[in-house]
Amino acid sequence: MFGLIKRWKALEAKGIMGINRRNADYVLKYNKRHLYPIVDDKILTKERAIAAGIHVPKLYGIISTEKEIDNFERIVEGHNDFVIKPAQGAGGDGIIVIADRFEDRFKSVSGKIISREEIDQQLSSILSGLYSLGGHRDRVLIEYRVTPDPIFKSISYEGVPDIRIIVLMGYPVMAMLRLPTRQSNGKANLHQGAIGVGVDLATGITLKGTWLNNKISKHPDTGNAVDGVQLPNWDGFMKLAAGCYELCGLGYIGVDMVLDEEKGPLILELNARPGLNIQIANDCGLAKRTLAIEAHLETLKKQGVSETPEERVRFSQSLFGHVNEA
Ligand SMILES: Nc1ncnc2c1ncn2[C@@H]1O[C@H](COP(=O)(O)OP(=O)(O)O)[C@@H](O)[C@H]1O
Ligand SMILES: [Mg+2]
Repeated sequence: MFGLIKRWKALEAKGIMGINRRNADYVLKYNKRHLYPIVDDKILTKERAIAAGIHVPKLYGIISTEKEIDNFERIVEGHNDFVIKPAQGAGGDGIIVIADRFEDRFKSVSGKIISREEIDQQLSSILSGLYSLGGHRDRVLIEYRVTPDPIFKSISYEGVPDIRIIVLMGYPVMAMLRLPTRQSNGKANLHQGAIGVGVDLATGITLKGTWLNNKISKHPDTGNAVDGVQLPNWDGFMKLAAGCYELCGLGYIGVDMVLDEEKGPLILELNARPGLNIQIANDCGLAKRTLAIEAHLETLKKQGVSETPEERVRFSQSLFGHVNEA
């Protein structure tokens, strides 16, 4: 705990953003309330993304009522692996990643055998709102299981690493690669025990990481270094993230993406209240960068112009590359 306080204090000097500032100056200011459902419901996000031509994991089916639980077999027919997810969940809670079938049962990514009864129970819990924001009744989505690109083999354990980029008014602010660990059960959420690794915005090369709020440079399960890894197709990820502003209309978001072995970059979800730990992973505060973007936006406004996603990416890469920053 003491170490944590010390680290946040050191970051403060680097323009760290605290929770109050994030909420007042960014979330409330840039995110219109009526647009929240687009990002808070993963089914709606998916529909929007598809309409905008942005790739997402394929939806196999939706379960909206107890009665529709009977449709489960039909939805997963022909699929040995898939993901069960609460539409309005967060933090990785309630998600089951099925990697295979085992006789008339299923196998999770970590090899745990799951019976049909357990699946039904999970579907029912999701519907009841156990994992939804505010405890409202929810829907279940069942989708394609992403197979991570082999590039991640050396630095990941099992499950799918995701790439989070914070985006302000379409401008990438900061990026982090999240790596699942043995503890996080195939999920890349930090509070499930995944590792957060900073990523240099200009180059897509990984920096050091944070695990359970400690600074680390090696993956705890594999022992491999997590820094100095070049993420493939970095400009593609940056452009994809920048374009999510047009997709959802929210001005301050966390865009979560994955790199599928076959399908390439996919959007996993958007977040209207992105966490602040990304600052620890990058050893850098968000506020200095967000203020620079806001100043740039002011200038553009005076000139009466706006920028394309490509121009916005270029702006962020020229300013927020690790080597450029003091
Ligand atoms: N389709 C998928 N295939 C494989 N793993 C997935 C899939 N969807 C989610 N996951 C894993 O679960 C984590 C959480 O999923 P996400 O959709 O971001 O929900 P949440 O809002 O709970 O974070 C992801 O970071 C990823 O590691
Ligand atoms: Mg997520």
